[in-house]
Amino acid sequence: MGLLIAGNWKMNGLGDRLGEVSAVAECARTTSGHNDVLICVPSTLITRAVEAGAGLVVIGGEDCGAGVSGAFTGDISAEMLKDAGASAVIVGHSERRRNHNETDAMVATKAVAARRAGLAVIICIGETQAQRDEGAALSACSAQIAASLPVDLEFSEGSAIAYEPLWAIGTGRVPTAGEIVEVHQSIRQRLTDLMGDRNHGLRILYGGSVTAENAESILELPQVDGVLVGGASLRSHDFNGIIRAADAVTRHSGDPLRRLRHAYETDR
Ligand code: 13P
Repeated sequence: MGLLIAGNWKMNGLGDRLGEVSAVAECARTTSGHNDVLICVPSTLITRAVEAGAGLVVIGGEDCGAGVSGAFTGDISAEMLKDAGASAVIVGHSERRRNHNETDAMVATKAVAARRAGLAVIICIGETQAQRDEGAALSACSAQIAASLPVDLEFSEGSAIAYEPLWAIGTGRVPTAGEIVEVHQSIRQRLTDLMGDRNHGLRILYGGSVTAENAESILELPQVDGVLVGGASLRSHDFNGIIRAADAVTRHSGDPLRRLRHAYETDR
C-alpha cells in the first residue's frame, strides 16, 4: 500500500476546471505509480472528472446520505455517487459537522452507506483549537473515532481516516511533526484496540494547510499514510507538487520499509 494523495475540492469547480484533473492525471502518469491519487469533487463534476482522470486519478464524492433513496431533497446517496463513476467518498468533514450539524453517529451511518455501495470511505476527525489548548487533542480524536467508525465494517480497499485539526484547515497553520506523529500514533493504537489486525488496511491521512512546500516533510513521517488537501488541490500546479513530493518520499524510503516501521510502532 503506497501513500494516498487525496484532494477535496469542496464547493469549488465548474466544468471549465476539469483541465486541472487532466493535468493531474498527466503528472500521475510520470511518477513511479506506487502511490494513489484521488480527487473528491462536487457531485456535478464526478462523471466528467472520471473521464478527465483517465484511470490515473481516482474520483470521489465529498459526502453522501445514509439511505439508498427516498424523500431526502438535495441529498445524494452513496449508490448515486457510485453510479456517476465515483470510487470513494469523504464523510464527516469538519465543515459538514459544523455547517450541517452532523454528529458522529450520522457519520458512522454514512460510512456504512459508502461500504454498501462499494465505495472507499475517508472518515474525517480532528480537534478544535480549544481542545488542543486544553491538552485534549488525543482524547477528542479518540472519542470521534470510537463514535464515527463502524468497527465491524469490512472497509473497501483505499479507505482511510483523515486527521484534520480544525485549526489547521485553510489557515496556513500546520501542526509540528511531533504533534502529527503523536496524534497519528494514538489513532493507530485506537484503531488496533477497536478493530485488531483489520486496521492495517486503513490508511491514516493528515489534512490541514498541506502545500507543495510542506508535503514532503509531512509525508516522510512513517505514521502518515497520505494527505487530504483542500486549497492546494484546486490547481494542478500545486497538487502535482504534492504528488511529486509523495513520489520522492516513496522512492527514498521504499514502501516495504515504511510498512515495517509502521507495524513495529503499532506493536509497541
Ligand atoms: P486546506 O488544505 O485548504 O487547509 O483544507 C484541508 C481540508 O479541509 C481537506 O479536507
